[in-house]
Amino acid sequence: MKALKLSRRDFAKSALGAAAGTLLARASAAPTAAPEIEPLSVRGRWFREARFGMFIHFGLYAVLERGEWVMHREQIPISEYEKLVPRFNPARFNAHEWVAVAKAAGQRYITITSKHHEGFCMFDSKLTDYKITRTPFGRDLIGELVEECHRQDMPISFYYSLMDWHHPAYQPSLKPQTPVSSEFIAYLKGHLRELCTNYGRIAGIWFDGGWDHTPEQWHSAELIEIVRRLQPHALVNDRAGLPGDFTTPEQELGSPPPKGDERFREACMTINDNWGYAKTDQRFKSSAELIQLLAKAAGGDTNLLLNVGPMPTGEIQPHFVTRLQEVGKWLQRNGEAIYATSPTDSGYFTDTTFTTRDNKVYFHIFNWQPGTSLRVDLDVKKPAKRAYILEDGQEVDFIRNPSAGGGPSTSLSFTTRNRGWKSPVTVIAIETE
Ligand code: GLC
Repeated sequence: MKALKLSRRDFAKSALGAAAGTLLARASAAPTAAPEIEPLSVRGRWFREARFGMFIHFGLYAVLERGEWVMHREQIPISEYEKLVPRFNPARFNAHEWVAVAKAAGQRYITITSKHHEGFCMFDSKLTDYKITRTPFGRDLIGELVEECHRQDMPISFYYSLMDWHHPAYQPSLKPQTPVSSEFIAYLKGHLRELCTNYGRIAGIWFDGGWDHTPEQWHSAELIEIVRRLQPHALVNDRAGLPGDFTTPEQELGSPPPKGDERFREACMTINDNWGYAKTDQRFKSSAELIQLLAKAAGGDTNLLLNVGPMPTGEIQPHFVTRLQEVGKWLQRNGEAIYATSPTDSGYFTDTTFTTRDNKVYFHIFNWQPGTSLRVDLDVKKPAKRAYILEDGQEVDFIRNPSAGGGPSTSLSFTTRNRGWKSPVTVIAIETE
């Protein structure tokens, strides 16, 4: 989609709003500097190149160990649910470790829940007492994580749920068709201003929970405008009901955006079946499945935002950590075929995918068993010069098929035996002229 441009008039209006006593601290401090919003292709380039991010679902719900929808699913009354506040103490939370887990996995950005549907703020909001700094833990977890991310050069975005099962001003709106009160909209706006001013540079706002109301009822354009004004480079997703900068297929890779839609795509997925920590959920995807998902995502021009739901102690469970480490090891050998690549249409086979970068085409083969042979005909954009196994550089012989038109042939064939490559995804790099 086209990047949203703020006109000088819009900005003047908002600066006036600030002067009129709203919380627009930043805008009123620099009323003349209308931020220029760069086109998405420039502003979001890092994001598309990053390809792999860590999603973190952490909130009060972790204490109950039954996923992030537990309050709603089990119809826990607010007064009961609030009793989790004095029990919330993720004393083993260590921002450095979380970022280190993401780094070791090869994940290049982090998106964390600042407030999920339960309404509990994981940051030190001035607008409510229902927040992490009022728990025995007593620290601003979001602030600590952001600081560490800044230190380790890891872009960080905030997930933010519009829907709120706790705030009194939203209670009537839990019934479908009931509009959202202006008091609640002011609360949302206040939160966005806090998130966009109190934590330095952030990579984006990841809205969620907007499905019960229209973007007009949510005042989504104004919410997004707050983000654009305070963090002009930041990316915004599509879940406030407006197009935003990227689409967010959930638990699937999604289909290609319609022609002319320039937005990016980020598929979010869980490692087991839950976003928030769920103790009994043992349906873990294997590291091989995760690697194949990542390859397929890249082959479909899609980022993979892979979730962890930390335990009530504040640690990421070992099942997740070991799998993420395996993905990281694969990326160390094959990352060149994932990061900053584009999709290419060299062919279609099940259990394979293709990416490309500069003068190389990467052919990703899933579950290729050692000892078995593979015979493939491919079409690449320019004549092939050389083909080799990406992880160890071993040459792969190929023949150039004669071209139909008599010009240089872009079609090649190879018959190759798997000489012992055991990876869930074996990549053949094809260097072209
Ligand atoms: C849905 C769920 C939510 C989860 C999210 C992740 O919106 O309600 O629990 O955070 O998807 O994509």
